[in-house]
Amino acid sequence: MSKILISSALPYANGPNHLGHMRSTYIPADTYARYNRLKGNEVLFTCASDEHGTPIAVKAEHEGKTPMEIATRYHKMLKKDVEDCNISFDSFTRTTDKKHYEMAQKLFLKLYEKDYIYEKEIQQLYCEKCARFLPDRYVEGICPVCGADGARGDHCEMCGRHLEPTQLKEPHCLICDSTPKIRTSKHYFFKLTEFENQIKEWINNNKELDSNVRNYALNWLKDGLKDWILTRDMDWGIPVPLNGVEGKIIYVWGEAFIGYLSAAAQWSDKTNQPWIDYWNDKAVHFIGKDIIYHHSIFWPALLMAYSCNLPSNIVAGEFLSLEGQKMSTSRNWVIWVQDFLKYYDSDLLRYYLTINAPLNKDTDFSWDEFQRRVNDELADVLGNFLHRTFSFTKRFYNSKIPEKFELTKEDEDFENLIISAPEKIGNLIEAYKFRDGLREIIKLAKAGNKYFNDQEPWKTEKENPKKASTCLYLCNQLAKTIGILLQAYLPIKSKKILKILNIADEKSSNWDIAAEFLETGHKINKPKPLFKKIDDDEIAKRKEELLNNSKEVTTQEKEENKMGDLISIDDFGKIDLRVGKVIKAESVPKSDKLLKLQVDIKEKTLQIVAGLAKSYTPEELLNQKVIVIVNLKPAKLFGIESQGMLLATDDSVGLLTPQKGEIGEKIR
Ligand code: MF3
Ligand code: ZN
Repeated sequence: MSKILISSALPYANGPNHLGHMRSTYIPADTYARYNRLKGNEVLFTCASDEHGTPIAVKAEHEGKTPMEIATRYHKMLKKDVEDCNISFDSFTRTTDKKHYEMAQKLFLKLYEKDYIYEKEIQQLYCEKCARFLPDRYVEGICPVCGADGARGDHCEMCGRHLEPTQLKEPHCLICDSTPKIRTSKHYFFKLTEFENQIKEWINNNKELDSNVRNYALNWLKDGLKDWILTRDMDWGIPVPLNGVEGKIIYVWGEAFIGYLSAAAQWSDKTNQPWIDYWNDKAVHFIGKDIIYHHSIFWPALLMAYSCNLPSNIVAGEFLSLEGQKMSTSRNWVIWVQDFLKYYDSDLLRYYLTINAPLNKDTDFSWDEFQRRVNDELADVLGNFLHRTFSFTKRFYNSKIPEKFELTKEDEDFENLIISAPEKIGNLIEAYKFRDGLREIIKLAKAGNKYFNDQEPWKTEKENPKKASTCLYLCNQLAKTIGILLQAYLPIKSKKILKILNIADEKSSNWDIAAEFLETGHKINKPKPLFKKIDDDEIAKRKEELLNNSKEVTTQEKEENKMGDLISIDDFGKIDLRVGKVIKAESVPKSDKLLKLQVDIKEKTLQIVAGLAKSYTPEELLNQKVIVIVNLKPAKLFGIESQGMLLATDDSVGLLTPQKGEIGEKIR
């Protein structure tokens, strides 16, 4: 038995969780935590909301609220999201908790005393109108690298570069829009360079680190490290704990990590057990791939400077896309956790997001694939095996586990499959291969269905009752094993299975006895169907909602921007507009919004999926002349390829048609 501290990346308290967060971090961490508890390890599973930083401060100013009010609002939402998905944190706290301030300031002071932090004057942007410095997201301008407008003070979304505010061209204050001036300001730097070799060594020698983390980290290390600025000129944050220093706070990335530990320390205060034992035995951080840099370089360096144990592993979940497209919160091309849970239980989400791809690969959420997995795998394979086993037991054996008689070779093979399952699946989870472990459980159910079919107990029950009895004896044993192992993955469904099997908590909360057999005569409860199929109409509704919601925001955004930003004539020149003619039009099954069109543009025919169905019937569109953007990158819309776009107005969806013009003619 060992102690283990498991953490999930701290979510920023400036918005609720969407499916991407659940996939990359919370679900895998929870699976690992639940598994370890079942193995009898002592688990301390921590997280907190990350409540400092400029996005929260800026949002507060725009809404006329305090940053604390904003953080509190989202802390509550984030907490509800994880609770509703049964993420079993032992401690979920906030980086605005008193304990967190104390620990973060203590760490800063200790590093300062040890001479790992030094002062340096640097140039910063200062807004005279607002009378303050403009760090990070307080300022926007033109990216000096790629020329994109709207680059933030710390980062350009367009080219992905890290930036310093003073690098921006044409910077403007995000609060009052005036042009800031450059002023010098004294800041505190962490001597990251001193740890370069140690970090390299740690990354190279850590056997647990997955290749995605190792490769990213080594790649960055190749370029060499720079010392790291650890402070900001602003009010919202943890004050720099040095005498005579005012108006400066510790940079959010310099203190957020401590959240893993301050959440643990608050758990200690409640339980009177020392958290440090957990940290020292084994610590595993679950994060998203966008913050590998911070966790493989900054965090270990801070810990080294502090002379503290390093984590045993950092597990980075890669990204989730939605219906084949990158998720975007500004376009509302996301599914929020709470919206998903309005219709489906969180176990279905946990199932899909775990089984769809290995954690270290990007993956996609699509409603069709979700439906397929729920129907074909959960309902038809797992649900079917369990339900037929329980129903047969009720009907023919008075709901009691029947007797086992002499085993044939087939029975023996099946029995061995059951007995070897806990170790096999446990090894996969210990290697962080959560998807493979879950697939093994589905394979067990598949094997169960095959065995049941081959044994034909519905026939042998009369012709060869011993054979039927042995079959049902073994099928119930497999159901039990599945019920126990599934607790790591699907907490609600597994509970239901174990309830039908009438297994007490103390007999089910142990991974290693998952394949201990139930006794003949053990009474089971009334079976209830465990998984419901999702029909096509329902999935069509989900897709339609997604489309409608994403559209709403675009319209709203347009409203806010009125005419939008100006583009250059060169930008416009990139768009290839042609006159086209609709030569075929059909509705898209189950969608009252989309039409599938074939549009002739002379040199070829393009297939275009257009959101016109609410305004036009297919017949009305047939033979219409239209204006087509012909050089758009093809995209799939719910599985149908669309190779271009028709010009139409936004709200009343009026199609623009050219008065004159030959088919294929270019428009300029
Ligand atoms: N809030 C940060 C993000 O979402 C993650 C912080 S994890 C931390 O990217 F522990 F390092 F703080
Ligand atoms: Zn200003």
